[in-house]
This record gives sequence, structure tokens and C-alpha cells, in this order.
Amino acid sequence: MDPQNEIRRLWSEAVAQSRGLLQELQQLGIESLHLAEIPDDLPPCPPKVIGVDQGGATPCRQETLEEIRQDLGECSRCALSKGRQQIVFGVGNPKARLVLVGEAPGREEDERGEPFVGEAGRLLDKILAAMGLMRDDVYICNVQKCRPPSNRDPKSEEIAACQPFLRRQLAAIRPDVIISLGRFSSQILLETAAPVGRLRGQWRRCEGVDLMPTFHPAYLLRNPLGKREVWEDMKLVMARLRSPAGGQSDGDRP
Ligand code: URA
Repeated sequence: MDPQNEIRRLWSEAVAQSRGLLQELQQLGIESLHLAEIPDDLPPCPPKVIGVDQGGATPCRQETLEEIRQDLGECSRCALSKGRQQIVFGVGNPKARLVLVGEAPGREEDERGEPFVGEAGRLLDKILAAMGLMRDDVYICNVQKCRPPSNRDPKSEEIAACQPFLRRQLAAIRPDVIISLGRFSSQILLETAAPVGRLRGQWRRCEGVDLMPTFHPAYLLRNPLGKREVWEDMKLVMARLRSPAGGQSDGDRP
């Protein structure tokens, strides 16, 4: 059983027992106890802070995508907030087995508030369709949630401000497979400076999840010959998703 589900099941059992006990005590005339003080669900775990020991004694549950979006709020943690029209948080299935991570919203994504809705996005939809998947089956997001002006590369302070939210999204979804689309997201998620041409086509690990780096659809629009390599990468992803353990196998992990 999934340890998160087991903890929540035990919590529900404990809540039910405590409420029963409290009711009995109230029937005995002890009025100063309040049933409402026992929450139905565990509180969300605080986000991990790199380099800080946050203990672990307090029982908590994995936070949800909605809670992460709420925490992001009308973000002004970096200068990209000044030029954006909308925050582009991510779309798709919160329980997706496959998450695709791009770089940052472009003009159309900034206007619509949804990742990969421009020309590169239409190519991504075709790649997904060839894999037998639709947008609603997967979760799609970017490293950066706001559009960089003139689509320039994000700066280090902008990456530092946004990256924790991406990692929290990945932890909340806990997919079987992540696909990093292009140089930027592959290098950020794998904490490497290696070029995507060297990274692609081989399984990596990120946040305890199998990750396949591949070329960005925008690159494929300029270099259609790269589609052959992307399709090789997608075949590896499909096989991993089909395998009984679905991303939990250890056989060919680095
Ligand atoms: N390119 C990206 O990396 N992400 C988008 O959402 C759109 C284009």
C-alpha cells in the first residue's frame, strides 16, 4: 500500500476513535472538550527547504496542487512578475503518471494562462497523440511560471524563485515518469550543465522519479530531423509506463 494512503487511513481511524471517546466523555457531563478541534485530514507537510533539517515528528500529508497554487498566489518573488499577463502554473491530471516539463511560457501561454498552447504546444499534442495520450491524461508545466520578456533565458534569481514550486508540483503528483523538454528544463531538473543532445535518450532520476530528457518541440519546429530521436525517447517512455511496476523498476537505472 502507498505509505501516504496508509498514514491517512490510520489518521481517519484515530479521528473516528477519538471522536467516539469525546462523545462518551460529553455524555458523562464533561463539556469543555470540542469535537471540532480534531481535523478530518492531516495538515499538509511544510515544503522541504534545502539544507534545513525540518524534523519529521509531526504527522502530515503530501500537499495538493491547489495548495501549492494558493501559496504561489499573485507571485512577485522575482522580476518576471512585472511583465507577465498571467501566471502559467500547469494543466492536466493531478494524478498523472506522466509529467512533461518545459522551460517558460511564451506569448500565447502568457495570454491564455496555459502551458504549450502555441505552435510548439500543437506539436507536443501531436507527439502525445502518437503515444496514445491526450492532454488530460498527463500533467504539463514549466520550470518558470511567468513569461520572460522577449522569451529571453530565465536568470538565475528567477530560476531560484520558481524552481521550488516545480519540485513541489512533482512531489504532489508523484508521477511514474517525467519528460524534460529541452536543454533548460533538463539541466535544471538534473542539476547538470550537460547539453540536452548528450542527456536525451537515457533514463535519469529526479525527485525519486524516472526522468527522460528529450528535445524541446520548439527545437523540432526548427530542426524536424530531431523528431526521429524524440520518437525513440518516447518509445522508451511508453515502454516504462507499460511495464508492470510503471516507473518503479530498477533494472536500467543509472
Ligand atoms: N515553451 C515552453 O517551454 N513552455 C511553454 O509553455 C511554451 C513554449
